[in-house]
Amino acid sequence: MTETLALDFENVSKSFAANSDKSSAINVVVDSLSMQVRKGEFFSVLGPSGCGKTTTLRMISGLETPTSGTIRMSGRVVNGVHPHKRNVHTVFQKYALFPHLNVFENVAFGLRMKKVSSEQIKRRVNRMLEMVRLETYADRMIQQLSGGEQQRVALVRALVNEPEILLLDEPLGALDLKLREQMQVELVAIQKQLGTTFIFVTHDQGEALTLSDRIAIMNRGRIEQIGTPTEVYEHPASIFVAKFVGTSNVFEGTSEFESNSQGASFVAIQTSLGRLRAKFHNGNTRFHPRDVPSAALIVRPEKIRVRVTSPSGESGSADLNSVRGTLVERTYFGPTTQIKLKINDQAAPLIALIANQASVKAPTLKLGEKYYAVWDPGDSIIVPSDARVAAALDAPISQPLGSTATA
Ligand SMILES: Nc1ncnc2c1ncn2[C@@H]1O[C@H](COP(=O)(O)OP(=O)(O)OP(=O)(O)O)[C@@H](O)[C@H]1O
Ligand SMILES: [Mg+2]
Repeated sequence: MTETLALDFENVSKSFAANSDKSSAINVVVDSLSMQVRKGEFFSVLGPSGCGKTTTLRMISGLETPTSGTIRMSGRVVNGVHPHKRNVHTVFQKYALFPHLNVFENVAFGLRMKKVSSEQIKRRVNRMLEMVRLETYADRMIQQLSGGEQQRVALVRALVNEPEILLLDEPLGALDLKLREQMQVELVAIQKQLGTTFIFVTHDQGEALTLSDRIAIMNRGRIEQIGTPTEVYEHPASIFVAKFVGTSNVFEGTSEFESNSQGASFVAIQTSLGRLRAKFHNGNTRFHPRDVPSAALIVRPEKIRVRVTSPSGESGSADLNSVRGTLVERTYFGPTTQIKLKINDQAAPLIALIANQASVKAPTLKLGEKYYAVWDPGDSIIVPSDARVAAALDAPISQPLGSTATA
C-alpha cells in the first residue's frame, strides 16, 4: 500500500516563535496534520489565508522541517532530507522567473544545473514548450510575455525536471478570471498526460472543486476533512467545511434520534425555529445522536423549495422541514435566482437558490412577503457543532486509502 503513496504525513506539526525574540510565545501553525496523497493524484489543499497551507508545502519541499511527526515520500522518511535530494518542485504564485534569461533558458535552468547533456536539454525543453504551446516563444525575454504565458513557463520550468511531486502554491492567483479558467483546464490535462502527483494549494473553493481528485480542507493548522469534491460538498464533515465549500444554511441545536410510524429514522435537531430533521442512514451517518448531543443541521440552498403556502397536508409532509420567513433579498443570476428569507430574529437569513428552468414559470416572489422554505430530510446533513468532535469521527462516507482499487 505504501508504494502507491506519493506522500504520507503522520501527525506532522510545525511551530514558530511568535516574534524573533526567542523567549516569546510559540505559535502552532500546523497542528497534528495527517494526510496521504496517492501517486498520480491531483490533490488540493484548500483553506483561508493564514491556515498553514504554504507552511505545509514548505515541509514537503524540505524548506521547513517539522517540529514533530513524520513525512514519507514513496514510503521513505524524508524529515531531514535536503530540498535538492527530494524529487519535488514548486510553482509559486509569484512565478520567480529569471528576467535576464529567455524562455528557453528559464526552462532549461534546472537541467543545466544537473549537467544534463545539451542535446537532451534541447529535446526536453522543446517538448515542454510544445506542451504549453510556447514553442515559438523560446527566444523571448520574460518581460515580453503576458501573465498567462509567464505562468506556463513557470509550470514547465518545474515539470521539465520530471518531479515525483509538483507543488503548486496558488499558481493562478495573478491571472484574470477568463485566463484562470483556461489555465485550470490546461493544468488538469497536463497532469493527466504526465501522471505527475500534483499538490495544489488554493483558497478558492470553486477551483479546488473543479480541479481535484481529492481535497484537504484546512482550518487553523488542522485538516477538517479530506475527500473527493462530491464528498466534501455533499457530506461536509464540519460547520467550517460546509460554510467554506459552497454556501450553507446552518441550524445549531440539540440532536435526538427519532423514528416515524413507517419505521424511517431521523436525526432531529431541536432549534430555536422548531424541530428540523435529517434522514438517519445506519452506517452512513457519521455518528448517533446519543453520542453527539450538540449538533448542527446543514442544508444547501439548491435543495430548498420556496412555497407560498404551508406544506402541511402534502403527502409525506410530516417529515418535511419547513421554516417561514420574510423575503429580504432577491438576486437574479440568469440560470438561477438567489433569495434570502429572514426568519424571526435570526441574524443570518436563510439562503435558497431557485433554478430558472425553461418550462417552469418562476413564481413572482415579492420583497417583504412571507414564504415557506421547505426541504426533505434526505437533503439535510448533520455535523457535530464542535470541529474537534467532527475531526475525531471516522468518516465512513470517505473511502479510507488502501481499501480502494488503485487505477
Ligand atoms: N517563518 C515564520 N515565522 C513565524 N510565523 C510564521 C512563519 N511562516 C509562517 N508563519 C505564520 O504561520 C501562519 C500560516 O502561514 P502560511 O504561510 O502557511 O499560511 P497560508 O495558509 O499559506 O496563507 P495564505 O493563503 O495567506 O498564503 C501565519 O499566521 C504566518 O504568519
Ligand atoms: Mg500561502
